Amino acid sequence: MRRLALALALIPLPALAEFFTLKGHGGPIMGIATAPDGRIATASFDNSVGLWTGQNPEWLEGHEAAVNSVTFNGTAIYSAGDDFTLRRWPGGDVVGRHKGKIVGLAASKTHIATASWDGTIGLWPMDGSRPIQLGPTGSGVNAVVFSADGTQLYSAGADGTLRVWDVGSGQETDRLIEHGFGINELVLNSQDGWIAYGAVDGVTRILDLTTGDVRDFSLDRRPILALALSPDRSKLAVGDGQGYIMMIDTTGWRIVQDFRATLRGPVWALAFSEDGQNLHAGGIDEAMYSWPVTSLGEQSQMAATEPSFLKNPEEMGNGERQFARKCSICHSLTPAGQRRAGPTLHGIFGREAGTLPGYFYSDTLQDSDIVWNEETINALFDEGPDHYIPGSKMPMQRITQAQDRIDLIAFLRRTTAPED
Ligand code: HEC
Repeated sequence: MRRLALALALIPLPALAEFFTLKGHGGPIMGIATAPDGRIATASFDNSVGLWTGQNPEWLEGHEAAVNSVTFNGTAIYSAGDDFTLRRWPGGDVVGRHKGKIVGLAASKTHIATASWDGTIGLWPMDGSRPIQLGPTGSGVNAVVFSADGTQLYSAGADGTLRVWDVGSGQETDRLIEHGFGINELVLNSQDGWIAYGAVDGVTRILDLTTGDVRDFSLDRRPILALALSPDRSKLAVGDGQGYIMMIDTTGWRIVQDFRATLRGPVWALAFSEDGQNLHAGGIDEAMYSWPVTSLGEQSQMAATEPSFLKNPEEMGNGERQFARKCSICHSLTPAGQRRAGPTLHGIFGREAGTLPGYFYSDTLQDSDIVWNEETINALFDEGPDHYIPGSKMPMQRITQAQDRIDLIAFLRRTTAPED
């Protein structure tokens, strides 16, 4: 097994300008970052970050919920997510903490900035000195970007406001836009003096920072969820909730491509390769897709096959349907256990909680003395994990109908039994 893994790691990433996918995550891909040396980092709903130098990634594990955003900074990697934490890798130390989800990250030479749904922005100095909090802004912050010299920060939020902050003083210095709908994404092009924003109502606009002029590239698809600027600044890629990617030529200001990137779900993440030859994308599919920019739309689409949890529900028994709808996105049932946010449930009956080797549990679950059986699993979803094991990583979720719990447990009994 180990030899196989080594061999896979040695297979380099394909030469760019070729189509490829990166497979291994067990959940949707929410964020992508690229480093000058060609490394790619992927942030996933499966609680992990994949660090790719070949087809076999290094898994950065420690987040206790979905990871939304990742960025390289010199030799370090920073990631943040639904567990309210900002972590630095290698190691995964918590270097910042919010009171709500962190959905956006930006890096300057001296600081990491975090955009949080708690309504504030965190400025975390890389030298470990005291962090600065910007805001509260009064509504969730969705995106942050630094000016090229790192002295200013732009932020966008659910209130539709595009704000400018002075990094030194932590004061808000300007409001550039008051859009009627939340702004999800920002891209700043300092050199050419414009900032692009994408909003909940499907608006994609470019604000000229010198003249204040606005160009509009909105199509009828919403919301805008991802923006990426090519390294030579000539192309702006826009991903939306309906699974399309639009490419804007920023030298002639026209839409040069528009294609359906995924057959199911939204485009959550976009990034150009360091040489600008490829566009990487993430969505509901468990693989990252990378298309040569010159032949976008001529290659495979994301999520072209139905996932198992969408298999014709009418043909399933109630227990299987419960599992498919409520558990399968985070748990597999097989011994090898495909990578997911939660541990495989294979062999769960009779297992002490928090003891599957190799899975990264919360301390709470690890320290509990629960043994999983019909009764304890029933109690877990009758009361909900937040009441039954407060502090565990399991999301709040109750199954209120006793019959649904009985059917689910019977299904788990059948499908998780170890073979002997
Ligand atoms: C959004 C992701 C998610 C969903 C959905 C989810 N779980 Fe979990 N589950 C987790 C995580 C994460 C853990 C690990 C918790 C910890 O370490 O505190 C976990 C742990 C467990 C455990 C304990 C495993 C062990 O080894 O101790 C059981 C049992 C379990 N889940 C059953 C279920 C069932 C049954 C469902 C569907 C009704 C479900 N979960 C839905 C994420 C999820």
